Order: sequence, then structure tokens, then C-alpha cells
Amino acid sequence: MNSSPKPSLFVPDPETIRRSRIPDYDGFYAASVADPASFWGNVLKDLHFTKAPTKILDWNPKSFEARWLVGAEGNICENALDRHVRDGFANKVALIWAGDRGEEDIFTYGRLLDQTVRFARILQRLGVGKGDRVTLFLPPTPAQVIAMLACARLGAIHSVVFSGFSQAALRSRLEDFEPKVLVTADCGYRRGKRIPLLETARAARKGLSSIAATLVVPRDASPESLESGERALPDLMEEVRFDGPLSPVPVSCDDPLFVLYTSGTTGKPKGVVHVQLGYMLGTYATTRHIFDLRDSDVYFCVADPGWITGHSYIVYGPLLNRATVLLSEGTPEYPDAGRHWSLIERHRVSIYYSTPTTIRLQMRFGDSWPANRDLSSLRILGSVGEPLNPEAWHWLHRVTGGKLPIMDTWWQTETGMIMVSPLPSTPEKPGSAGRSFPGVVADVVDASGKSLPPGETGTVVIRTPWPSMFRTVFRDPERYRKYWTEIPGAFFSGDSARRDEDGFFFFLGRVDDVIKVAGHRLGTAEIESALITHPKVAEAAAIGKPDELRGEIIKVFVVLHPHATDTPPAHEEIKKHVRTELGGIAEPHEVDIVISLPKTRSGKIMRRVLKAREMGLPEGDLSTLED
Ligand code: WTA
Repeated sequence: MNSSPKPSLFVPDPETIRRSRIPDYDGFYAASVADPASFWGNVLKDLHFTKAPTKILDWNPKSFEARWLVGAEGNICENALDRHVRDGFANKVALIWAGDRGEEDIFTYGRLLDQTVRFARILQRLGVGKGDRVTLFLPPTPAQVIAMLACARLGAIHSVVFSGFSQAALRSRLEDFEPKVLVTADCGYRRGKRIPLLETARAARKGLSSIAATLVVPRDASPESLESGERALPDLMEEVRFDGPLSPVPVSCDDPLFVLYTSGTTGKPKGVVHVQLGYMLGTYATTRHIFDLRDSDVYFCVADPGWITGHSYIVYGPLLNRATVLLSEGTPEYPDAGRHWSLIERHRVSIYYSTPTTIRLQMRFGDSWPANRDLSSLRILGSVGEPLNPEAWHWLHRVTGGKLPIMDTWWQTETGMIMVSPLPSTPEKPGSAGRSFPGVVADVVDASGKSLPPGETGTVVIRTPWPSMFRTVFRDPERYRKYWTEIPGAFFSGDSARRDEDGFFFFLGRVDDVIKVAGHRLGTAEIESALITHPKVAEAAAIGKPDELRGEIIKVFVVLHPHATDTPPAHEEIKKHVRTELGGIAEPHEVDIVISLPKTRSGKIMRRVLKAREMGLPEGDLSTLED
């Protein structure tokens, strides 16, 4: 008998495999990468274009420019809404909204289209047209979804800023993006607490001349008194009440859909640019195959549309698939620890796409919460944002009945779509995100770009272009190039992983100075830049420290100015400072005030040494250490 421990293997039942759209992954995958143009060309047939593409992909390996669907014209909003209404699904539910304070609202495809057209009309009146930029600073409500779709309909470019960001974080994004219109709400709600968004938006936009108008969407019933340059949504809705239909504006393969800011290795977040048509193809295909969407499904993704997961897998991918989407505002523990299980029961959710931190939190609350709810409607589960550890995988699997497939999906803001994931028809290994999605060539390589054998840890790259890849970094093409030159000829993800002998990926974390706190992506440099704006802080270093619940937590080390050492700032004061500068998600969990930081002779902070010390691990090669 072989006694070596094998990772547990979950094999879907034969009926699930038979019903699946891709029953034979291996054959299907091999064909898809042998001839990507025909694989993606086939997907294309489900979508509607006013002009068909003349070429699926035009790839320039010198400039790393990938133009998908060359010659095509179409519109993602038209495909997400009008197409379904035309096909007879005006009365199918598109969006169910569950508010933080127990509110509920339901939009059919017909109603969502109607509201989107009105919103687009309003944006038009405020001067927004094709190519114009609009920043959305909204809570996760239907208005947020409608505003995104309305921008897309006009061929305008949206940039959604997560509503938990601080005034300073919003301001730096506004400064870089220079929108013509800012859309915000009077407030949002989180754990029953009012979040004053309009106040934050007003402070953030001060003196920014690009912003011609601020559109204020009511989240509360109470009317706000408006300042000059602000318009209230209900008044404008009244004005456009009798306006006729508004046709979607056809866009071409190079026209941007959105810019989403995300953290990198420098102090400044980067604006990741996605284009309408390619992004549409990638998000449509991945949502369809990974979540196996059918007309009877109710699909619940726990993300916030303020992040890429919400863009691709709450708004665009599911609506392109004519799904019924549940959008929830708030957190998994409010009003009680059973929030998600209650929503699943109440709305007969069949697909639940969650995050490892959420699952580990639910695990802490205990089995009774899921056990007390009827979860029999569930059929497929998913996870994203950080590695899903085997314990959390097994717990989720068990409390949902022990039979459901779990799609541990790996991807990034830059990739726009899921790149590595199981399919409902493929085997799964807890702790692994499975294998590449059809048409995608993910690889684990060494520093020279050579593929590594099974069992060896290396850097994750993508070898060939994919349709929903980002097209550039807003106003920073050099930063875009860096993704493709780090490992020559391939897209550098910044993640490390190993594969096993069956080709299954096991993701381990970042190789750069990006940390993932409860799935939120933060740059250590961003946190450090915020810290040194504190008058008493001279130098700072931030690291991600492993944490059982949140994956990583933020630990910071600060050196004080000599004059500040007599009256050292309280640790709480330093935490609060980062919170004000960046927002709650970036608040450090631990603060150490130190005399000096380990640095190289050229003055670079050696975060690796701080992290090793923190974890009681060997400090590695210290030959470059200054002192
Ligand atoms: C991490 C989120 C392990 C990874 C969609 C990546 C994951 C970063 C997984 C991107 C997963 C995402 N397993 N790690 N299934 N999914 N990550 O841009 O480090 O917010 O590089 O996009 O999240 O974060 P982003």
C-alpha cells in the first residue's frame, strides 16, 4: 500500500459533469490554446455587434499591445440589457438589492434598462459623451450599477472609487483621472452606521477644475441642501421623464470602458484601463463557464462594485449572461452572523461567490448559523481575493451539504477576468485554484522565464494575451510596459505559486510589496507615504503579517523625528492618521515605534528583514544591510 499522503480530491458527480457546458476540460483546454482565435470566435457568437470584427486578435509583442475584436463595433450596455429585453426577457429579474438596513428593491431587465437610459440622459445633459470621464463614488446600491451601465451606454469612461475610501484617497484618484462629472450619494450605510459620502466628496473635489458638475443620488430620504455645481438626481429624473429612448453608442475595440485604481509597488495607486469589447468577451465567457449560469439561477457575489470583482462578477459578466444578480450592501456580520445564509435562504440563491476572509469569519461564528437556514437552493460556490486554505474549503463544503463544487478563482484587476479556476465539471483539490481557464496560458517560472517543474515555487506569468486584459495604465504607459518586461515576453502577475504533478496551481502570495488584507489590495509604499505625512513620523515601513482570519494584517514600524521623542504619539494616533489619509481598510493593526529601520547601503528599507524578524524566521542574506 502507498502510504504517502495525497491531497484530498473532490470529484463532481457524473450528472454534474454530463450537464456541464465543458464536460471534458482536458480536450477542450488543449483545443482552446492550440487555436485561441476559434475558441474566442465561438464565444463571440453569443454577443451582439453592430459591426462584426474583421480580426479576433492583433497582438504586437514589441509594444505589448493587444487589440481584440479589430474592426468590431458594439456596446457592452446594449449586450447586458437591450439584448435580453429584445429576446423577450424584459420581465426576468436582473437585480435584487438587499440594503444594509434591511431594505429591498427588485429590478427586472426592463426596469433596469429604463433606469439606465434615464441615467444616461441625465449624464448627457451634464455634458457627458463618448470618451468623457466620470467618477462614481457611491455605496453598493442599484444606482451604482445603473450609473456604470449608463456611462458604458454613452461610451463614457467610468472610474468607480470604493465608498470606504477617505477624502484624501478619493482626491488623489480625482486628481489623476480628472473627471468631467462626479457622481456621489448623500450617504451609504455599513453595519447600520451612516457614511457621509457627500461630505467626503465635497472635501475631496475642492478646487479641481475638471469637475463641471456633481450629481447627488439620494440614499437617504432626507433631502440635502446642495452647493453650487451640484445637481440632485430626482430633479433631473423629472426633467428627462418624457425623453424618448437613447440608443447605445457603438464603440470600437480601442475604446475604454473604465479605469480602476489599484495598489502597486509605488506610493501612488495606478489606474488600470480596460476597454469595452475585449472586456465584454472575457467576462461573459468566464462567468458563463465557471458559474455555469442558467436562467433559473440566482447569483450572489459578495464583493462591492467598487472593486474589480464587483465590476466583472456583479455587474458586467452576470448581466451579459442574463443572470438574476443579488447585490448586498453591508457586511457578513450585520445585523447578525447569519447575514449571507439568510440572504441565500430568502432569495433561493443558487450560486454563492464569496471570499476566504468571509468564509473564515463565518467559520468562527460557528455551524449553527448555516445549519439554521435552508441552503438547499445552492448549487455552485466560489471564492476570490486570496488563497482559500484547505480548512476553510472543507468547512464551506461541509456546511453547504458536502456535495457542492467550490470555484477557487485566481485573477487580478489587471486581468479583468478569472484566469485560473476549476470548472463545475473538473476535479478540485482543496487549497488549489485548479488550472488555467480555456484560452488562457498561465505558467510558473523562474527569474529567467523558464517553466518550473511540478513542486517548485516560482512566479506566475501569463504567456499569451487574453481578451479582457488591461490595455494600459492611465497616463503611465511605462508602468504598463513593466508588467511585460520583468519576465521577458510574458505578463508578470506579482504572485508566486507552485503546481503539482497534475498541473494544479497552489497560489502562495505576492512576491512584490503588495499586501492582501481581507482580500483588499494595498501597497506597502502607499501606507508608508501616508505614515510620513504625520508630523511626528520621520521614517516608516509597512509589512503584511500573516493572520488566521484576514490572510494578512498591516504591521508598521515608525521612526520618530528627534523632537517628537519627548512626547511620542500614541499608537492610536498613528493608526487614526492612516485611516484619515487612506480609509479604514488601510488602518494598521499593529504599530511599533523603533529607533531605526534595517536598510540597504543605498538606503532602501529591507521589509523582508522586518518580516522575517516579526515571524521569527531566518533573516536571510544580510550582506547588503547597512548596519
Ligand atoms: C490575490 C482581485 C490566491 C493575488 C480579483 C492577486 C488570489 C491579487 C486569488 C489581485 C486566489 C486573487 N488565490 N490569491 N483565488 N484571487 N488573489 O487586483 O495575490 O484586488 O495578485 O483582484 O489577489 O487582487 P485584485
